[in-house]
This record gives sequence, structure tokens and C-alpha cells, in this order.
Amino acid sequence: MIDIHAHILPGMDDGPQTLEESLAMLEVAVAYGTTDIVATPHANLQYAFDPELADGKIAELRRAAQGKIRIHRGCDFHLSYDNIQDALARPAKYTVNGKKYLLVEFSELLIAKTTNDIFARMQAAGITPVITHPERNIQLHRRLEQIEQWVAAGCLVQVTAQSLLGKFGKPAREFAEELLRRRLVHVVASDAHDAKRRPPRLDQAFELVAHKFGPRRAERLFLLNPGAVIAGVCLEPDDTEEFRPRKWYQFWG
Ligand SMILES: [Fe+2]
Repeated sequence: MIDIHAHILPGMDDGPQTLEESLAMLEVAVAYGTTDIVATPHANLQYAFDPELADGKIAELRRAAQGKIRIHRGCDFHLSYDNIQDALARPAKYTVNGKKYLLVEFSELLIAKTTNDIFARMQAAGITPVITHPERNIQLHRRLEQIEQWVAAGCLVQVTAQSLLGKFGKPAREFAEELLRRRLVHVVASDAHDAKRRPPRLDQAFELVAHKFGPRRAERLFLLNPGAVIAGVCLEPDDTEEFRPRKWYQFWG
């Protein structure tokens, strides 16, 4: 599996603080089937994003991880005015592997009325926004139709693996499932911050999606689509059929 959203770099943000903690996280990721992980330090009012510093930490982490997992660079990009201006001027500073996909996180306080315009300007600058964990943003729970519009306009949606497991509460889990039912989810990622409480694990969410929506959907959300994100290529169209898990009595039919 491929994890496009994880805070794994030591001393960069509210993720791990030491190289040992970072390595412990990578060990968890490897143990549960992740082959590629994108290091996504925050770019928000609290944490300034420095791509060169991130590259240096990634190089250090790669050496320490001895090739057990591939590490890519991304950014957990907060949709603030200054960030947006800077990303439009220098997209590769923030995008995954300097290519076209940008993780974007909305404020939990308000959704700007100009968001459609911001996304259109980003796309004109060659950036494809990947809306991160809308299921954890109460403002977005009321904007299902708007999410539909953003997806129709070419944006992607990433849901957090732990949301599907109920670890962010019932409303987050239900909204994540509703998005899945409506085919408004393109990627599931861990948004890991440590090795235990918010670990870089995708395996349980993969099993859950495979069970409820079919193994082909799971493969698409945990491997094929995130693979396209790290490669910076377009997603293949979702050709997976409607999947109905069999009821217990059907096994005797
Ligand atoms: Fe994050």
C-alpha cells in the first residue's frame, strides 16, 4: 500500500521529535504492508514549511531506514491566504514529489466562499488539490454537494484510515462511509503522527473497505490512486463495479 499523508519527519511539527521515533513509525508502516510513504510536514500558522529542511530530514531518514520503505516529500498544506499565494507562485515547493498533487486542509472554522475560485486558480497553475480528511471537518459535513462539485471539477478527496475505524468518532466514520458510497473518495491515508496513537497503518482500513466496497475498490484507494499521486500522473477512471457483500444466509444458497 501507498500512504500519501504522514507526519514522519523528526522535529518538524507535531509528529515525531527524534530520529528514533521516526524509525519506530516506519517500522510500523513496513510491518503492516506500506511500501511507500509521503512525509507531509504541516504548513500552517504554527509550523512554517521549509522544503530544503524537509529534504535534509528525508535524506537522513532514508539512510537510517536502509531501503525498507520508500520515502517521498509532500506537505500538509493549510488553505490560508499566504500559503495559497505562495503555492500559486511556487507549486513544486508544496506538491507531492514536486509534481502536480497538493494536499489541502480546510480551516475547521470557516470555508471561504472563494474556494471554487482558489481551486480553479490552482488547477490553472498545474496543481490538483487533494482535499484531506473532509470527514474530520464539521464545516464540510454540511457541504456534501460542494464536495461533489469540487470532485466533478477535478479535485481529489483523501480520507483518514482511522476515521473509517471510528477513532475520530461516529460522525467522522459515518461521513467517511457516505463519501465512499458516493464514490467521492480517491485515496485513504494514515495522517500518522506517532507509532502508537496515530500510527502509519493502512491494513485495517484496507480490510474494512475491501469487505464493504469490494477488493477492487480497496486496491484503487490504497494502491493505484495513491501510486498515481506520488508519480504525478492522472488517475485511471474508477471502473470498479457496485459491490454487495453477501449476507450469511447466501452462503447456503
Ligand atoms: Fe496531517
